[in-house]
Amino acid sequence: MIKEGVLHKEQIENSVHTLRKRIYRFDVPTGQHCDRVGDLAVKIAERAGMGHEDRFNIFNAGLIHDIGKTTESFRPILYKSGDLTDNDIKIIRGHAQEGSRIARLEGLDDIAPLIFQHHERVDGKGYHGFKGDGILPGASILTYADVFDALTSDRSYHKGKSRDDALSLMYENVGTQLNGAYWDAFEKSVI
Ligand SMILES: [Fe+2]
Ligand SMILES: [Fe+2]
Repeated sequence: MIKEGVLHKEQIENSVHTLRKRIYRFDVPTGQHCDRVGDLAVKIAERAGMGHEDRFNIFNAGLIHDIGKTTESFRPILYKSGDLTDNDIKIIRGHAQEGSRIARLEGLDDIAPLIFQHHERVDGKGYHGFKGDGILPGASILTYADVFDALTSDRSYHKGKSRDDALSLMYENVGTQLNGAYWDAFEKSVI
C-alpha cells in the first residue's frame, strides 16, 4: 500500500514537471511566477496548519496554476496592460478553466479544482462566482500567493511594489477578494 502511495505521488510530480516545462517553453517569466507562487503558497499552507496531502496539492497546483495561459490565443495579451477588448477579457478569464482541463488530462484530479478556482473572490465577483466557503481553502491560499507575486514582481508595464506596499494593498481587499482566515498565515509567510 505504501508503495502504491509513493508511486502515485511520483506520477503526480512527473505530470507537474511536464506541465511546468510547457509553461517555461511558452514564456519564462510566467514559469518563474508559477514557481514563486508554488513556493509561497506552500509556506502559507504550512503556517495555516494544513496537512501533508493538502500542502502537496497546493504546492503542485501553484507550480502550474497558469498552465491555461499556454495557448497561442493567449500570447498577444500576455503582457497587454490596458485597452483589453471583450474578447481579450474572455480569453483571460478562460485560463483558469483551461488550466484545470489540462491538469485533468494529465490525471491531476486533486490539483485541477485548485487551478479552476485560483481567481475566485470571497465576495463572489471572481471568475466563476464561487464565494465564501464555496471556495476551496487551497484555492484561497493560491490567490494570496498569486496576488502578492503579481504585485511585487516587475512586469513589462510596471515595476514591482515593495512588500509593505503590497501588504497594505492586499489588506484592503480582505473580505472582498481575499479570505481573512488566511491573512495571518500569509503575512507571516512573506516576512
Ligand atoms: Fe491566473
Ligand atoms: Fe498567476
